[in-house]
Parts: sequence; structure tokens; C-alpha cells
Amino acid sequence: MVQTVTLSQLGLDMFDPQAIAHPHQFYQRLRDEAPIIFSEQTQGWVLSRYEDVRHVLRNPDLFSSVRIADGTDGAGIIGRTDVVREQVAPPDALTMLNSDRPDHTRLRKLLSLDFTPNKINRMLPRIEELCSEFLTGAASRESFDVVTELADPLPVTIIAELLGIPSDQGAQFKQWSDAAIAPLAPDVSDAEVAAQNKLIVEFRTYLQEQIAQRHSHPTDDFIGRLVAAQDEESKLSDDEVLAGVNLLLLAGNETTTNLISNAVLALTRFPDRQRELRAHPELITNAVEEFLRYDGSVQFTIRTLTKPAEFYGQELEVGARLVIVLASANRDERIYPNPDQLDFHRPKGKHLGLGDWIHICLGQFLARMETRAALLGVVEEYPFFELAVPEAEILYRPNFNLRGPSYLPIRACAR
Ligand code: HEM
Repeated sequence: MVQTVTLSQLGLDMFDPQAIAHPHQFYQRLRDEAPIIFSEQTQGWVLSRYEDVRHVLRNPDLFSSVRIADGTDGAGIIGRTDVVREQVAPPDALTMLNSDRPDHTRLRKLLSLDFTPNKINRMLPRIEELCSEFLTGAASRESFDVVTELADPLPVTIIAELLGIPSDQGAQFKQWSDAAIAPLAPDVSDAEVAAQNKLIVEFRTYLQEQIAQRHSHPTDDFIGRLVAAQDEESKLSDDEVLAGVNLLLLAGNETTTNLISNAVLALTRFPDRQRELRAHPELITNAVEEFLRYDGSVQFTIRTLTKPAEFYGQELEVGARLVIVLASANRDERIYPNPDQLDFHRPKGKHLGLGDWIHICLGQFLARMETRAALLGVVEEYPFFELAVPEAEILYRPNFNLRGPSYLPIRACAR
């Protein structure tokens, strides 16, 4: 048995703003010095090498997705834990993300209806229309904030439309969904928590009404189809429909926002890649895969051991929590030559930025399509772009796991 090392003994604090801004040096140390290490902050064993992370993802019977509700913040969100937080769906309602087979198969099958490549392809004109609306005139301004003016509104508008929320309620929906998914920052006041809780309760009531209405008046939108499936085959409980909608908000918003922002930031760091994409826009598909590898927005996911296991001589018991760091696996030099370089010509199909195997991202086609449209939109709008402030001034959202800047001003510049 090896001696247990913990992250704090290595002097590493996952929730330190510096670690959030620059996680890759931190991950490299983990891969080299401590490929398995205990994190007190997530009460879990951290795995950072590609082969280990992929092994865990590909063996869902040994590594369960059911979350342990032990009060620790396995989600990686920094913030106040001393206040009561309202929830859109009951915390114990099953979702595909936190279930194993056979529940996972049942839930995924029903929620997959709207996420096939064919269905998603039909959304392209609307996604392009929104990108052009958000970006019109951007290049003539001194500064355009990619986060609040493009990467934030795009996914939430698309999800609202996918769910069948009427367009005149779009602004209200955004306010509700922001409250539902916002992490509680460490300095958030009691009054702000109360205001957020009020919005979350309003949102839950609204969604419950939408579900109830669709029982009597069927609709051909996402919520309508879930309700119809529920009526025909009694496959989903009302709470599971609510939890499914909530999951889309949690899984599909900030992830996409951050990927778009991280990708634009990367194009300012690597002007040659920006030139390459301008000269060869057909490289966009490869480019998005490379952005998912280079700076994907989900840093890690969690699994729980269903059988004893051993990694690097460290024995782990049934029930132990694993924190598998996708973002570190994607920069593992054992797999990727020059992992810190952006290269649109790497072999396809390897990165773990969207997960792998049975839990691979359900929204993968949508996430890719939105990111492609947003990036091509930015490239078309600007003759060339750069950051409007020094990169050191870019602050990150207070969420270690869904990592991305909170503000990303760009401006036109000489090529
Ligand atoms: C760039 C954007 C996105 C990234 C980086 C991302 C990443 C991921 C990852 C890594 C997982 C696997 C989690 C695990 O195995 O524990 C996942 C699962 C999932 N994602 Fe995404 N996602 C993105 C966008 C979306 C969108 C747009 C939606 C839907 C609107 C979505 C819905 C889901 C759902 C429902 C799951 C659970 C799948 C399952 O457990 O079977 N995601 N995503």
C-alpha cells in the first residue's frame, strides 16, 4: 500500500482562483507526481491521466454515476454551503447523468428524441440567425464582450426554444435559468440568496404548470414529447420530467458558453491558428474538436466504486468517490504530442471533452453546432481580432468544474 498523498500536501487548492485561471500547470503536476491523489475538497480520489480517466468512463458497471449525497461539493462549485438553496427538481429525482443502467438506458432513450443529428441539423438556420444578430456591428466597436453578448445568450435561447418556451417569455426564462444554475459565490449575501431562491421557486412553478398544461393540450416540443411518453407508457414520473428539463439547463448552458469563450480566447493566443481558420473555414469541424481537447469546459466528472479497485498501488474500497479529470486527460503528453499547442490536424475521435461511452454528452451535436456557428460568425464579422485587455486581466467564473471566463472583450486589429 502506498502512502496516501493529498492535494493540500502538494500545496494545491482546487478552488483557488489562480488554479481556476491556470489549471493546466496544476494538472501536469498531478499527472507526473501523483496520478492518484486524495482531494479533501471534493472528498474524492483524483485521477488525471488519460488511460485511467478513459478506463473509468468505459466501465460504468465498476464505476457508478449515482452520486453520494454526503454534503461535500463533488460538483466543484465554490461557494456558500451554509444556506438553504431551492432546487428546480427534487434532489433525489433520477436523471441520466446521475443514474446507472437500467435507469440510465430508460431515461436516456426518452430524452434522446430531440438530440439526434437530424433534429439538430434542422436548428442550424436559427442558430446562424442568432449568431449574426448578436454579432452585427461588433467589429466596428471598441470592444465586444464575447461572454455576455454571444456565448451566454446563444445556448439559453436555443434551449428555451427547444423546450417550447414562448419567445415573449425568453427574457424571463433566462433570468430564471440563470438563478437555477448560478453557483453561490462565497461572498453572496443572504438577500441575494433569498432573491435567487424566489426566482427558482417561480421557475419550478412555471415548469410544473407547463407540464400540467401539456397533459391536457399535447404539444410537439421537448416538454410535450416527454409528457406524451409519460402518458402512453408511464415511463417517466412528473419529477423525472422536471429533472430532465433541469438537466438540460445545467448541462447545456454554461458548458456551451464556456467552450465558445475558451475557443475565442485560444484564437487570440494563437493568431496563426486564427489565420488558418480564416483561410480554411472548412477546418471548423476539426477546430471545434481541438477546442474541446485544448480547453473544453468540463474539467471533471464523478464516479463511485461499486467494487474494490487499485490504481498505482493505492487500494480503494467500494463506495470511494473518484474525481476523473477530463481536462487533464486531454492534455496528457503520453497521448498527445505537444499537448499545450493548438493543432487543427490532430487525429480525430480521441478527446474526452464530451465524456465517453454510455454517458457521452447527449447534447454533443448541438454543442458542436452552436460552437461552430459562433466561431465562424466571429471570424466573419472581424477582419482579425485580439483581446481588448491583457489576458492577465481576464477573470474566471467561480466554478472550478465548468470553467470559463466571466468577461472576454475582443476588438478588431491588424492581421
Ligand atoms: C460544449 C458544451 C458541452 C460540453 C463540454 C459537455 C460535456 C459533457 C460531458 C463531459 C458529459 C459526460 C458527463 C459524465 O460522464 O459524467 C456530458 C453529459 C451530458 N450532456 Fe453535455 N456538454 C455540453 C453541451 C451539452 C448540451 C448543449 C446539452 C443539451 C442541451 C448537454 C446535455 C448533456 C446531458 C443530458 C448529459 C448526460 C448524458 C448521460 O449521462 O447519459 N450537454 N456533457
